[in-house]
Amino acid sequence: MRTAAEFNSFYASPDPWRITQARFRDKVLRHCLRPFTRNRSVLELGCGEGHLTEAVFGKARSVVGIDISDVAIARAKSLSLPNARFESADFLEVSFEGYDVIAAIECIHYLSLQERGAFLQKVATEHSGKMLLLSGPIVDYVRQFGHKRLMHEFRSLGFTPVKFYNLSVYEDPPSSRIVASLLKLPLGYTLLDGLPEWMVHQRLYAVQAPKRH
Ligand SMILES: C[S@@+](CC[C@H](N)C(=O)[O-])C[C@H]1O[C@@H](n2cnc3c(N)ncnc32)[C@H](O)[C@@H]1O
Repeated sequence: MRTAAEFNSFYASPDPWRITQARFRDKVLRHCLRPFTRNRSVLELGCGEGHLTEAVFGKARSVVGIDISDVAIARAKSLSLPNARFESADFLEVSFEGYDVIAAIECIHYLSLQERGAFLQKVATEHSGKMLLLSGPIVDYVRQFGHKRLMHEFRSLGFTPVKFYNLSVYEDPPSSRIVASLLKLPLGYTLLDGLPEWMVHQRLYAVQAPKRH
């Protein structure tokens, strides 16, 4: 999927990814993201129906949520969140200037490699010196989103990796499934960052854009 029409048809029924049921993901994202977003102004790219805006970015000073699907944006607006406003646009075409933090959670892997390069270059230019929070199915699922490749891309564009977090594990082999259920116990998520790389399905990166001189 890449175009507004494709995402709109996917949004024909609400919550197509069943994001609102992913309570574990919300908990982990809150834990990892709040230190970066509390009391800050956030540009949330690919915000969909505004679930994370409410569940994870509720303590941000302000949020502007952008999504290519106007169907999703209409649902996000209907949440009437006090700290947020929403706009329908392709995020490659909006200005990144004027925010403390840019969050791109689970939406960059829809871009081609060339578009991803252009996206990172745009962040480097328009969001100079500030924090980019980026997550996706980083390891193996979409091969070009592999950890080594991504780190190489960050460094070659002058980004400084500040921190990365593991967000979820593969359900295969069965040993991973056992780990996945342990992680869901209270405080189990604190074990995520100690897991071996082959188990990790999704990762979150906090990187600082290069400072312009
Ligand atoms: C898997 S959903 C993730 C939604 C939300 N970030 C979350 O993690 O719960 C991906 C979202 O990115 C949006 N998206 C993908 N490409 C986009 C683009 N180029 N510009 C704006 N939104 C985009 C899609 O419409 C969809 O709502």
